[in-house]
Amino acid sequence: MQVLETITQVRAARSAFPTLGLVPTMGFLHEGHLSLVRRAKAECGAVAVSIFVNPTQFGPTEDLARYPRDLARDLALLEGAGGDLVFTPSAAEIYPKGFASRIEVEGVTAPLEGAARPGHFAGVATVVAKLFNIVQPTRAYFGQKDAQQAVVISRMAADLDMPVQVVVADTVREADGLALSSRNVYLGPAERAAAPTLFRALSRARALFEGGERDAETLRASVREVIAHEPRFEVDYVSVASPDTLEELGRVGEAALVSLAARLGRTRLIDNVLVGRPRA
Ligand code: PAF
Repeated sequence: MQVLETITQVRAARSAFPTLGLVPTMGFLHEGHLSLVRRAKAECGAVAVSIFVNPTQFGPTEDLARYPRDLARDLALLEGAGGDLVFTPSAAEIYPKGFASRIEVEGVTAPLEGAARPGHFAGVATVVAKLFNIVQPTRAYFGQKDAQQAVVISRMAADLDMPVQVVVADTVREADGLALSSRNVYLGPAERAAAPTLFRALSRARALFEGGERDAETLRASVREVIAHEPRFEVDYVSVASPDTLEELGRVGEAALVSLAARLGRTRLIDNVLVGRPRA
């Protein structure tokens, strides 16, 4: 496994691989990342992983400074998962002096996380576009946990004719249903015990959908009702939207993305389930 810090090094190493998967990450890896790495390796024959805590996707009051980092542990995990290239650039490597470009994906970035975190998706789209250009992967792998991010990146890649296949993989969960996230380390013991309520709430909506309920507001209300049993949560949004456009639905047709964001103490958690379509 080669660990590379510069774009020049990545370009030189890239030429050894006829097909290459890319898993972009911000490090502090968990089983969700590692399952993407293993899948990329199986499907592409070789896998590159980027580890870069991208400053431009954090708002001024967000957790950039305290975002968890442990490069030595990440590298050991990647070695075990079959990583071939690991790109660990500095901020100056990605955003050199004079950097002045930004990718704005319109429409799908407006609601949900985009409304709660202004500028977040421009930061994500720009860094992911750069990673695509630097690594030139055959396929790039993202988790369904960040459902809107996956929609934004798929939109960007399609709109800008990027020669990469965007793959979105199922959310990996703890045994009690909590979606894996690097930010779960922020949760204190009582918060960690409360956190699976979110997946229980989403599962309730899914059960109602599978029982024939198609009124989106009834599904939203069912999610809120389950979360309300746990007073530690402050709900930011509960959404039942088109999985493709992210527009809120009145009635659910074939499929919907049921998603939510809620604060638990100082930690903001997001989660979602797709109903009417494979992938959880
Ligand atoms: O999902 C993440 O970890 C980040 O948003 C990504 C895709 C690596 C871009 O910084």
